[in-house]
Amino acid sequence: MHPKICPITGDLLAFSYFSFQPPYVHYIRVGADGKLKQLDPIDVPNMVMMHDFNITQNNVIFMDLPVVFDLGELANGFPFKFSRDAGARLGVMPRDGRGSDTRWFEIDPCYVFHPVNAYDDGTNIVIHVSRQNEAFGSSSDDYAEVGRLYKWTIDTVTGKVSEEMVDDRPGDFGRVNDKYVGSKARFAYLMSLGGEGNSEEPVYGNSLWKYDLTTGQCWEHHLGATTRGGEPVFAPSSHNGAEDEGYVMTIVHDTAAEKSRLVIIDAQNFNGPPVATIHLPQRVPYGAHGNWVPHNLVPM
Ligand SMILES: [Fe+2]
Repeated sequence: MHPKICPITGDLLAFSYFSFQPPYVHYIRVGADGKLKQLDPIDVPNMVMMHDFNITQNNVIFMDLPVVFDLGELANGFPFKFSRDAGARLGVMPRDGRGSDTRWFEIDPCYVFHPVNAYDDGTNIVIHVSRQNEAFGSSSDDYAEVGRLYKWTIDTVTGKVSEEMVDDRPGDFGRVNDKYVGSKARFAYLMSLGGEGNSEEPVYGNSLWKYDLTTGQCWEHHLGATTRGGEPVFAPSSHNGAEDEGYVMTIVHDTAAEKSRLVIIDAQNFNGPPVATIHLPQRVPYGAHGNWVPHNLVPM
């Protein structure tokens, strides 16, 4: 799930987790030449839902969070359950190390579908995530909570992880300029969430947020009262431009018109109206992920 491409080496770094017997998780590294360089087992105690992971320039970080496979839950329609007692850990492994090199750091039980980005900071590792207190309380559509932007700092000397809430408003689907994946990014883009999952209000919100992670400043792009957002994907407008010189694109759904559209926003004029809108011939489901692929990377 959610593989990452290192913008410096071109390596694709990924993991797989859906195995019914140990090892439940594997680390996968594919070189820029498309050849498999590494397939390593990662030792986690439970078969957990591991939706995404993190890369820095030197490490990958696995999130062993307690949404645990439980066949007994199948009767409720979904075989995973949030199990606080299983604990939660972040596993730091050198990108070209072995699975057995992974160091585990305890954190408070929680769940993260999507981190935003991670980077090495001396002997610390910093990760921004959309963190929720739990997930899948009793069924697949019964989120106990929704995510909020947090900053985790792993101190690899003391073995402690500190946790800091960046924004108390719900948001998820965080992205940065892909050139900064694994490095310290100044700007992050998130989609707002419309409320707790147990409420009748749809979870997908009607705003996008641009954060300056160095100052905490946040700009809002309101999509419209009846419009629910999607993942904000950044496309640079030039090779060597400023980090936020480019466009944020998202596929939204207008619940009144029952139409989907691709909205393109100038990232440096984030509050302004979209610079373009592409009306789509059919609905795109909420939660679709996407990436910007420059035309020179598309085989002709
Ligand atoms: Fe996802």
